[in-house]
Amino acid sequence: MAVNIDWENLGFDYLNLPFRYISYYKDGKWDAGKLTEDNQLHMSESSTALHYGQQGFEGMKAYRTKTGEIQLFRPDRNAARLQATARRLRMAEVPTDKFIDAVMQVVKANEEYVPPHGTGATLYLRPLLIGVGDIIGVKPATEYIFTVFAMPVGAYFKGGLVPSKFVISRDYDRAAPLGTGGSKVGGNYAASLQAEVEAKEAGYADAIYLDPSTHTKIEEVGSANFFGITKEGEFITPLSTSILPSITKYSLLYLAEHHLGLNAREGDVFVKDLDQFAEVGACGTAAVITPVASIDDGEKHHVFYSETEVGPTIKKLYDELVGIQFGDIEAPEGWIFKV
Ligand code: PLP
Ligand code: COI
Repeated sequence: MAVNIDWENLGFDYLNLPFRYISYYKDGKWDAGKLTEDNQLHMSESSTALHYGQQGFEGMKAYRTKTGEIQLFRPDRNAARLQATARRLRMAEVPTDKFIDAVMQVVKANEEYVPPHGTGATLYLRPLLIGVGDIIGVKPATEYIFTVFAMPVGAYFKGGLVPSKFVISRDYDRAAPLGTGGSKVGGNYAASLQAEVEAKEAGYADAIYLDPSTHTKIEEVGSANFFGITKEGEFITPLSTSILPSITKYSLLYLAEHHLGLNAREGDVFVKDLDQFAEVGACGTAAVITPVASIDDGEKHHVFYSETEVGPTIKKLYDELVGIQFGDIEAPEGWIFKV
């Protein structure tokens, strides 16, 4: 490898890589798109993305296999989710072929930054769709920028498969019942910053958000979905329109049922019933699987499995998921796209 990076000790930080992809939508159509070395976006000061939050993004990774090949994990699902986000915010949709082609171009152009197999690190890809142009009224833009940039990353929550402590956010919601919680839009993250900062200042890895209508059910764990393994061995993950439909979560639902032989389902996860879980985890592209050591809720302190060790079922799910992503375990049909 030509680049000088300490792959084993990467965090989750921006790095200005040589190439990114950019495409413009104007007069009802996308241009062909191209790679560029310029990491600055040029747009009108009145762009809807800047004023009214008309933007959406994705998070995905490229993985180096032990034979040195590079692969993507279910990129068609990221394309479909960005399209759903675009429909919710009345933005121009990026067709699946264009989305996957853009991601492939960025991975190939920055190939030397895809971390070596065995380091645990990956190339994180950030597709971004923003409304631009000269509009000041509150209405959908007629021009858009679609860009994809990348950087090598390690663990999102410090320590990888090491249990982390979380706290329930009782003062702030991240989403509204019929709002945009189910879409990957910047506004959801802006709305979560206050709770996140306060949780981190209090020594937690992040805040846990409850359902915004009754505040009795678990929804999200910071920027990741929640799942738990009950004492009876059932895999349960919350179902709600204000949760981001996590591609990792749907993959784990499948693996829990088909590879581990567990009952696996989406359903309500009431805070009052948290003690039904033997093991709890947070899952997502950036978080991968982060074991949840404990959840604090006011005076209540729920501990799952152990505050220092990963539980056996979460370990098995992690090995299965990560084994598939890095090409060490055969993937279900259609999950892997070779770059
Ligand atoms: N929930 C939120 C709020 C997120 O930001 C993410 C990250 O994308 C996830 C869940 C996990 O989704 P995925 O597994 O598709 O990365
Ligand atoms: C991801 O898991 O890809 C995310 O987008 C989470 C966060 C970094 C925003």
